[in-house]
Amino acid sequence: MAKREQWGSRVGFILAAIGSAVGLGNIWRFPYTVAKNGGGAFLIPYFIALVTAGIPLLILEFGLGHKMRTSAPGIFGRLNKKWQKLGWWQTVIAFFITSYYITIVAWALNYVIFSFDLSWGKDTQDFFYNSYLQLTKSPFNFDGIRTQSLIPLIIIWGINFVVLAFGIKGGIEKANKIFMPILFASIVIITVRGLTLPGAFSGLDYLFKPDFSKILDGKVWVAAYGQIFYSLSICFGIMVAYASYLPKKSDIVNNAFITAFGNSSFSLLAGIGVFSILGNMAHNTGQAVAEVAKDGVGLAFIVFPQAINGLPNFNELFGALFFICLVFAGISSSMSIIETTVAALSDKFNMRRIVSLSIICGVGFLISLIFVTGSGLYILDIVDHFINNYAVAVAGLIEAILIGWFINIRSIRNYVNPLSDFGVGNWWEVCIKIITPLILGVMIVLKIIEDIKIPYEGYSLKALLVFGVGTVLSTVVIGFIFSSIKGSSNFETSLQEGVNNNGF
Ligand code: ALA
Repeated sequence: MAKREQWGSRVGFILAAIGSAVGLGNIWRFPYTVAKNGGGAFLIPYFIALVTAGIPLLILEFGLGHKMRTSAPGIFGRLNKKWQKLGWWQTVIAFFITSYYITIVAWALNYVIFSFDLSWGKDTQDFFYNSYLQLTKSPFNFDGIRTQSLIPLIIIWGINFVVLAFGIKGGIEKANKIFMPILFASIVIITVRGLTLPGAFSGLDYLFKPDFSKILDGKVWVAAYGQIFYSLSICFGIMVAYASYLPKKSDIVNNAFITAFGNSSFSLLAGIGVFSILGNMAHNTGQAVAEVAKDGVGLAFIVFPQAINGLPNFNELFGALFFICLVFAGISSSMSIIETTVAALSDKFNMRRIVSLSIICGVGFLISLIFVTGSGLYILDIVDHFINNYAVAVAGLIEAILIGWFINIRSIRNYVNPLSDFGVGNWWEVCIKIITPLILGVMIVLKIIEDIKIPYEGYSLKALLVFGVGTVLSTVVIGFIFSSIKGSSNFETSLQEGVNNNGF
């Protein structure tokens, strides 16, 4: 078997891990989540979530990847042959996430071009839904593929393909060394410009004004943990795959802290930038900031273009910078999600990288075509909701329970500590064994209750069952199928070795 590729430097690995973490979640999800859940006071549950779940899981995933030098299926399969299913489930979840994540990045690429002459006009909502997406009336009314989104979709898949074809050091590491500084510089420019606009401080006041009463609300804590899981790309096989390319002598604990704090710092910066510009927009239109604030697709493609229209000067430039941020943040995350699946196929079937990459990008592209049809936005919204709230969360819950309770977790701690600049204590074990499963369990139950009470976003039951529940079930079935196929002799032998060594 070919020697496993490695990152060229510690900085290269950290930049790639931060690149995976920093994504759409930081720019369009974090700011609104803070504002909605107690403003400045939300930062308390947020940092507690970071320290009690985000960082501990990151240390766990970095440690597992580093020790086993393989992707999620091999890692869980070596701990216990039956657990290979969990690894494949996480891999398939990552695959489905890629297919719609890339679609959003493709839209953002289109919007970079639209920024050049502010093509979205005055009515940005009408432009996005009707002129650009040509959105139909319901999820089942596909009405064909929209060529305008298809072209950037091909480009974004193409960029991912080319970067990944150059491998870990020559592709992913190099790309992140270029993308991350551009991303960081763009967000700093946007934030500095935002802060100097009239009304900026009313935006920041809305974002950060602490409402400490919210800390007593369980939902706020769930939102904080949810944000951390999504943003740090944990529990869907990504970080274990990235860590499997670490050289033998590599720090684990400090790298996890740097990645986590790098990601949160970016989120805070993005929050300040986005809300100072929204503050300016509210100032211009005479509305309250609460009325204009939004998250997700609505923030990026409707509210932000409107805010860009109202800037005193250089509107085109700042529009382009904002969407360039989304594109770079999105590609650096999508590369990591694709790598998860490419590594899993190559590791199990001893497939050449270019072959597994072509299969993943080819099939992934075909699946993502559904998201550029006339009803693509509805389907994307449903799939995203179900995959994140159920598939990722349940897979994470199982991961924490299996590792916390069914193997000797102390042995993982004893493995990562001597490698690292500083070690972890008992608190780390408590976080994995008790806090993470407890919080994830509560999150899942609360979501189920909420979704049963009010069907998500008012979609029809049929649409929720087909695109939501159907997608989640497909990830389970496909994951189980892949885990039941026999792998290369190297792979199967390595599983047996793992079992002989008592797992870890
Ligand atoms: N961590 C990635 C994001 O925040 C998935 O978008």
